[in-house]
Amino acid sequence: MPGRNFLFIPGPTNVPRRIQNAINIEQEDMRAMDLPEFTKPLYEDLKKVFKTRSGRVFIFPASGTGGWESAVANTLNPGDKVLMSGFGHFSNLWIDLCQRWGLNVQALEVEWGEGVPVEKYAEILAADKKHEIKAVFATQNETATGVASDVAGVRKALDAARHPALLFVDGVSSVASIDFRMDEWGVDLCVSGSQKGFMLPTGLGIVCASQKALDMRKNSKLPKTFFDWEDQIKANDLGYFPYTPPMNLLRGLREALNMLFEEGLENVFARHNRMATAVRKAVAAWGMRPIAKEPKWYSDTVTAVATPEGFDGNEVVRHAYKYYNIAFSISLAKIAGKAFRIGHLGDMNELMILTPINAAEMAMKDLGYPLELGSGVAAAQEYLRTTKINRLEK
Ligand SMILES: Cc1ncc(COP(=O)(O)O)c(C=O)c1O
Repeated sequence: MPGRNFLFIPGPTNVPRRIQNAINIEQEDMRAMDLPEFTKPLYEDLKKVFKTRSGRVFIFPASGTGGWESAVANTLNPGDKVLMSGFGHFSNLWIDLCQRWGLNVQALEVEWGEGVPVEKYAEILAADKKHEIKAVFATQNETATGVASDVAGVRKALDAARHPALLFVDGVSSVASIDFRMDEWGVDLCVSGSQKGFMLPTGLGIVCASQKALDMRKNSKLPKTFFDWEDQIKANDLGYFPYTPPMNLLRGLREALNMLFEEGLENVFARHNRMATAVRKAVAAWGMRPIAKEPKWYSDTVTAVATPEGFDGNEVVRHAYKYYNIAFSISLAKIAGKAFRIGHLGDMNELMILTPINAAEMAMKDLGYPLELGSGVAAAQEYLRTTKINRLEK
């Protein structure tokens, strides 16, 4: 098909040319004597993205799920009680993973469209006087529903109860796109992946652990080999890896960090909010709404657009792919068919974000949705036009 295919799913995201060039290099010796000059600053700079001074970053040749597995396997023990909440496909998968690891999971079922139930967590933690709960889990951004949660609020709940449980955060679709503060929020483990805010292909599970989490590894009896932090620490401290690292992706990661720092992390977050707001303006102009129930739950990286009664959201995805060469994401599990998802994260700017709005509008019009052609595009244009950013000012 002539022209390009447009990718507006919530990861993998567009890989900018600079990163593609950084990845597209000759293979190299992963034991080269000068490799630590590359790896040590890479790890240090990753800590800046997680906003931690005292934590430690691990990079696994894996995806986010591998990051989850490493977080659990290195800190907890079989039968440990953990507090979790499920409000979408990914938060539920995390619950499933913990159950399969043999943890004693207290999983709160939350209505899809809402996020981590901070007040409920506060109650449960306050009542847990014997401190049986070893870890509390929060999915910062539920990619299936486009719902962002209040991680700082979970820390407040732990502190209010003077509870020593570890705080685990899924930052797969938030880190490097939505503000995340490891040290300030007292997060013990944050899991991310390369294919979203880091603008890379899939292939790196990126995990950040606090000192407290690192100390837990000494008593953790869950089995591990590939994901063993101990092996990583020994090799990483020397600037190397315990097994063959994906050097091309690591070179790409270096370039991704350069790009994030050149723009400035806070500007990256503001840009994501701007892209997301443009999409939400369009959704409102179509007379529709996001699955996220209230503005406090709105995600700045993905919007799940709720489709009206009688319309199958996944048909919009199929139609747009078939006729307009653009990829949106289908809706999954409990909301399958009730929405379609527009990813608006990573390497993205104003004119790029008008493309999925334009395409969704055409696809929905084709499928008989009661909307006015151009209404969403006009609303987004008006927002972007009247809130211009002068890029030359920097
Ligand atoms: C919030 C969230 N957590 C976890 C995952 C799983 O990550 P991966 O697919 O990289 O293993 C995803 C994937 O999209 C996700 O969005």
